[in-house]
Amino acid sequence: MAGGGFAASSGGGGTEFEAKITPIVIISCIMAATGGLMFGYDVGVSGGVTSMGPFLQKFFPVVYRRTQDPGLESNYCKYDNQGLQLFTSSLYLAGLTATFFASYTTRRLGRRLTMLIAGLFFIVGVILNAAAQDLAMLIIGRILLGCGVGFANQAVPLFLSEIAPTRIRGGLNILFQLNVTIGILFANLVNYGTAKIEGGWGWRVSLGLAGVPAGLLTLGSLLVTDTPNSLIERGHLDEGKAVLKRIRGTDNVEPEFLELVEASRVAKQVKHPFRNLLMRRNRPQLIIALALQVFQQFTGINAIMFYAPVLFNTVGFGSDAALYSAVILGAVNVLSTVVSIYSVDKVGRRKLLLEAGIQMFLSQVVIAIILGIKVTDHSDNLNHGYAIFVVILICTFVSAFAWSWGPLGWLIPSETFPLETRSAGQSVTVCVNLLFTFVIAQAFLSMLCHFKFGIFLFFSGWVLLMSFFVFFLLPETKNVPIEEMTEQVWKKHWLWKRFMDDDYVDGGDIGKGTKGFDPNSQL
Ligand code: BGC
Repeated sequence: MAGGGFAASSGGGGTEFEAKITPIVIISCIMAATGGLMFGYDVGVSGGVTSMGPFLQKFFPVVYRRTQDPGLESNYCKYDNQGLQLFTSSLYLAGLTATFFASYTTRRLGRRLTMLIAGLFFIVGVILNAAAQDLAMLIIGRILLGCGVGFANQAVPLFLSEIAPTRIRGGLNILFQLNVTIGILFANLVNYGTAKIEGGWGWRVSLGLAGVPAGLLTLGSLLVTDTPNSLIERGHLDEGKAVLKRIRGTDNVEPEFLELVEASRVAKQVKHPFRNLLMRRNRPQLIIALALQVFQQFTGINAIMFYAPVLFNTVGFGSDAALYSAVILGAVNVLSTVVSIYSVDKVGRRKLLLEAGIQMFLSQVVIAIILGIKVTDHSDNLNHGYAIFVVILICTFVSAFAWSWGPLGWLIPSETFPLETRSAGQSVTVCVNLLFTFVIAQAFLSMLCHFKFGIFLFFSGWVLLMSFFVFFLLPETKNVPIEEMTEQVWKKHWLWKRFMDDDYVDGGDIGKGTKGFDPNSQL
């Protein structure tokens, strides 16, 4: 879960301590790559595999027969099968359950051991998947992978934010998302290659190759040390200080060390972090974090990420063209995420989200119109020209998502929660995201069958709604140090200031002319 937990390190975002980019920091970046790659690979691999004939024949013969006899049924319903959707969705259901345990193990056992647990889950899951003989093995494998995702997505970002010097912390956040997109692309490429393997066992290679990032994550977690924050939190003060010296490449670590000890003391005073999260003054951040997760998934992005090859098959592409188009989408996703890395702190969060809202809305509406006119219920496939146009429109949609809702859905919650609720807030964020990822994964193919081309209008309606949400309710957080969010952002927002109880009495500043809506008042 890209970036979930990045800002959860102690010390806020403002103070700069002496720190070199040491080898251990570089190894940490590689770890981030494998954690993100692993997640992305899992997101990207299922769609291609489910469009492969031999895979369907073995595990979902009913669906296979339907794909072979398209004349019998509506094109849109070829893949509508609860079991097939469960193959994709079970991972996210397991992931969200595992997040609760992961939040405990990251605190009690440390970040490193939690990553090791994740790596082991991944390895066993990959083995079961690649060797699967029946549906049960396949689904159990996916559930284990999901447990890996739950543990890794909590621990890896936290580990990174704590080990990285402050000045590269923000960049690392989106870097994690970038690795997710690279993982997706890698899976699309692998699927494109393995679908050509004679003998019908290419899907085993696709599922098995997830073992590469899984093995690297496991190996990495055996090699690195735990973070100073985690060691201090668990009472190993001397070890924590020694590690801090090693990772910062200097003996002059006393100021940072003292801040970590203090932050850990403050964090321990919060006895009920989850209850704290529900307090009135934390309401705006919570509402925004939850809304961002729900909205991110209701852009419809994962309908594309999970099911692009299936979708392309549905509108009449051959298997090869469908997998090839998925590779193009994957590449657009990676490149557009790079755009975000460069523009997020210059252009700002609101502008990116609003521009992308318009772009996504238009793409989806035009896709719906083309499919509505051109694909009838009786398996009329799109002609070549229209098919290419649809791929271009889906690319336009994916690129808008990738420089907005993709990374920002993670970045904004991680930078708005105050320290006292940050890690609880992050767990809830990851959990809600996985919950709605699950919903989309489980429902999309059935929705496609019932709504037909209208599915794109359904998502475009959501995009409209979320753009209004951004316009009216999401404050700009560009260049605001984390510890100044309350003063600079929340207390200045036309609505959210009402929740900052300490010096705002309801209606108290009406006379000062701050009543009413001014979308720019928080910029
Ligand atoms: C989302 C994932 C999605 C990915 C696509 C992430 O930000 O959380 O659900 O698959 O972006 O790149």
